[in-house]
Amino acid sequence: MKKNKIKIAVVGIGNCASSLVQGLTYYKSAKENDKIFGLMHTNFGGYTIADIEVVVAFDVNTTKVGKDLADAIYAHPNNTAVFAEVKKTGVIVQNAQVLDGIGEYVKDVIKISDKKIADPLKVLKDSGATILVNYLPVGSQKAVEYWADICLKAKVGMVNCMPVFITTDKVWSKKFVDANIPIVGDDIKAQVGATIVHRVLTNLFLDRGMPIDRTYQLNVGGNTDFQNMLERKRLKSKEISKTQSVTSQIGLHGESIKPENVHIGPSDYVPWMKDNKVAFMRIESRHFGDVPMHIEVRLSVEDSPNSAGVVIDAIRCCRLALDNSIGGPLVEPSSYFMKSPPKQYTDTVAREKVEEFIERYRK
Ligand SMILES: NC(=O)c1ccc[n+]([C@@H]2O[C@H](COP(=O)([O-])OP(=O)(O)OC[C@H]3O[C@@H](n4cnc5c(N)ncnc54)[C@H](O)[C@@H]3O)[C@@H](O)[C@H]2O)c1
Repeated sequence: MKKNKIKIAVVGIGNCASSLVQGLTYYKSAKENDKIFGLMHTNFGGYTIADIEVVVAFDVNTTKVGKDLADAIYAHPNNTAVFAEVKKTGVIVQNAQVLDGIGEYVKDVIKISDKKIADPLKVLKDSGATILVNYLPVGSQKAVEYWADICLKAKVGMVNCMPVFITTDKVWSKKFVDANIPIVGDDIKAQVGATIVHRVLTNLFLDRGMPIDRTYQLNVGGNTDFQNMLERKRLKSKEISKTQSVTSQIGLHGESIKPENVHIGPSDYVPWMKDNKVAFMRIESRHFGDVPMHIEVRLSVEDSPNSAGVVIDAIRCCRLALDNSIGGPLVEPSSYFMKSPPKQYTDTVAREKVEEFIERYRK
C-alpha cells in the first residue's frame, strides 16, 4: 500500500540540514532495489527517500531567514561538501526565537535576523509536518526545550540530532510518553564516525579478553559546530554524550573504567578544515601476561554527510511509530541511531532490534 509523504520540519539550517536536503535531491529517483550508501534500507518499512519532503524550516541567521531552503542550505557560514544542486523548493526559511541558540564564539559570524517571528506552533501545524528534525547548536538547552514543547503541542514527532538530553531526561521523556508522541534521540551517531569506530574497537578489545586501561578521542574540525564548541560551558553535554557512548560499551561487558582514564570530546577549531573532521583515538591495553600494547587511529570524515543517511532512517522509524500510534522515546531505534539513547546496546544488537522494529511496524 502506498503511504503518504513524510512531511518534515527542520530547525537549524546549518551543515547537517544542508547534507540532509541535498541527499533528498541526490537520491530522489532511487529505485527500491538500488543500494544507497548510508541507509539501512532503500525501502524502509514501506518508505523511500522520495517520500520525505521538507515542508517548513526555521533559522535565525540573516543569511538564511526569508530565503528559499534551496539557497539557505548553501549560505554562509555553511561550508559542507556540495554533492547535489537543489532546485527551488518553495519553502521559505522562517525566523525563530534565538533564546540560547547563539554562543560567544559564533555571535560575530551569525547575524540575527530582525524579520517578524510568526507563531511557530501555528506555522508548524499549517505546514502539515508530522516530524520535526532538531539541528540546533550544542548548548541550546532553552531553545531545544522550547521546540520539544512545540512538538508536544502540535502532536509532531521529534528526531533530536544533538546533545540536549530529552529521551534520557525523566521529565521530558515522560511528557512524550504521556502525549503519545514518538521521539528518536539524543545526538545522532554518524555512519562511520569517531563514536562508532571507538565503540567497535572497545568491543573488539573486550571480546578478545583485553582490558581498556586508558583511552582518548580528540576531535578537530572547521565548521560552526566546532567553532561553537570552543565555549567550554556549552560543550559539557557533548562531552557527556560522546563519553558515555563509549564507556557504556565497557559497562555492557561487566567492566568499568575510572573517569580519569577516559578523555573524549571536541578538542579544537581549525577554520581551513571546513566540514572535514579529524579524530585521533588511542586505546591502551594489555596482552596475556599483562604485557602492554596500544592502538592509535586517525579518522578523517566529512562531518555532515556522515550523519544525514542515519537521520533519514531515524525519520522513517519515527514515521512508522506515528503510523502505529506508538509514543515516547523509541528505545531500539534511538540505541542504533543516537549516541545517547535511553538504553545502550552494542551496535550489532541495536541493528537487529531496529530490523525487528521495522518488521513489526511496517504495513
Ligand atoms: N555533523 C554530525 O555528524 C553531527 C553528529 C552529531 C550531532 N550533530 C549536531 O547537530 C547539530 C547541527 O550541526 P550542524 O553542523 O548543522 O551545525 P551548524 O552550526 O552548521 O547549524 C546550526 C544552525 O542552527 C541555527 N540556529 C542557531 N540558533 C537557532 C535558533 N534559536 N533557532 C533556529 N535556528 C538556530 C544556526 O544559524 C545554524 O544555521 C549540532 O548540535 C551538532 O553537534 C552533528
